Amino acid sequence: MEKMWAGRTDGALSREADDFNSSIHFDSRMYKQDITGSMSHATMLAACKILTDAERDTILDGLQGILDDIDSGKLPIDPDAEDIHMFVEAELTRRIGDTGKKLHTARSRNDQVALDIRLYLRDEITEIRALLRELIDAVCEQAKANQDAIMPGYTHLQRAQPITFAQQLLAYAMMLRRDDGRLADTAARMNYSPLGSCALAGTTYPTDRYMVAKMLGFDGITENSLDGVSDRDFCVELLSAISLIMTHLSRFSEEIILWSSWEFRFVELDDAYTTGSSIMPQKKNSDMAELVRGKTGRVFGDLMAMLTVLKGLPLAYNKDMQEDKETVFDAVDTVKKCLRVFAPMVRTMKAKKENMYAAAQKGFLNATDLADYLVREGMPFRTAYKIVGQLVAQCISENKTLETLTLEEYRLHSDLFHEDLFEEISLETCVKKRISAGSTGPESVAAQIRSVEKFLGK
Ligand code: ARG
Repeated sequence: MEKMWAGRTDGALSREADDFNSSIHFDSRMYKQDITGSMSHATMLAACKILTDAERDTILDGLQGILDDIDSGKLPIDPDAEDIHMFVEAELTRRIGDTGKKLHTARSRNDQVALDIRLYLRDEITEIRALLRELIDAVCEQAKANQDAIMPGYTHLQRAQPITFAQQLLAYAMMLRRDDGRLADTAARMNYSPLGSCALAGTTYPTDRYMVAKMLGFDGITENSLDGVSDRDFCVELLSAISLIMTHLSRFSEEIILWSSWEFRFVELDDAYTTGSSIMPQKKNSDMAELVRGKTGRVFGDLMAMLTVLKGLPLAYNKDMQEDKETVFDAVDTVKKCLRVFAPMVRTMKAKKENMYAAAQKGFLNATDLADYLVREGMPFRTAYKIVGQLVAQCISENKTLETLTLEEYRLHSDLFHEDLFEEISLETCVKKRISAGSTGPESVAAQIRSVEKFLGK
């Protein structure tokens, strides 16, 4: 195919160079954005008297026809085209003749591609946010159903204090809610139109960049033409926001994998989200969670790749920037796939409350509460802490628990112990008595659920 830019050179690249240079196999997914952008550009050119109204109409008709034909599959995208921008323009000229050649007035592929990718990612962000909300909803529903499920809370993966499964799940709802905020920030910051920056320096034509920006739903225009064509901060921001989503999903996955193991048995995943083994008949593996954890690595790789591409690039456009798309597309595709499987996996997961409770009964999770009991009876906290530590050591050596020691045994350590201590250190009391804001106590958990539901617009 003859290059549209043939002129100074004959445009005849070697086969290898041509393949290497081409981006059509990954940027063709932006055809809608490319055509919509061109339509707004042509409309603006006519409004500014750079094109006649008749020329504009011919161009708009031609572009609409191309859009319809790509949508319907009638017009296959030519894999030999250099990129989607060249493909659409060449097809337009093929269809409407010389008028098609006027479309690229007061524009360059540099601002065109910068526009297309913003438009594309803006839609992707909307989609990711919807999927994220779906997951937050699933997490919140599980939390609602598990407000009474007492389980061990961990630090250092050692049993620490009793909490509810609802409290543990709501922690993820909070992370994911922040992720939504980050996506919203990214979308807001990138919602400025670079079109009209042209190759790098702007144009001598009397264009109206604000008009294009308005037609395409941007909040304004990029204010510096060099920045307009060379800024890919929004790709980095989006990749960072997605990386953090993946981090959260990966931590959640890790817990789901642990909880599904025979060692924990806190949850049972629905069969639809597990796999078996080709050799071990008893297996039920949490492959989806493992894959999400694994895919986190590749998204981090995408972020690193993007940062590294940009580092050291002189202004303004450089071909290196063509590498922006594969990384950001891969991250966007990956996080969407992960969220699509994660939300229903969480929604259908069964909590095994008895197992959680049984685990919470071992490991002296109520030791802090026992120390607090002594403090309430008037003992300084450090002294109480020491006595409880000795009681725990005694229980371990005698294979007992704090619940099974007798009052007499307690009173050998301090006469501040009374019969009511047993009620005070029951797991239910330990949870119920957590009254601080944000705690695992029932009121706090209910407030968290309300807050998340409000965020979800429920
Ligand atoms: N395919 C190119 C990209 O994705 C489009 C911009 C080309 N601009 C240029 N001056 N060669 O970045």
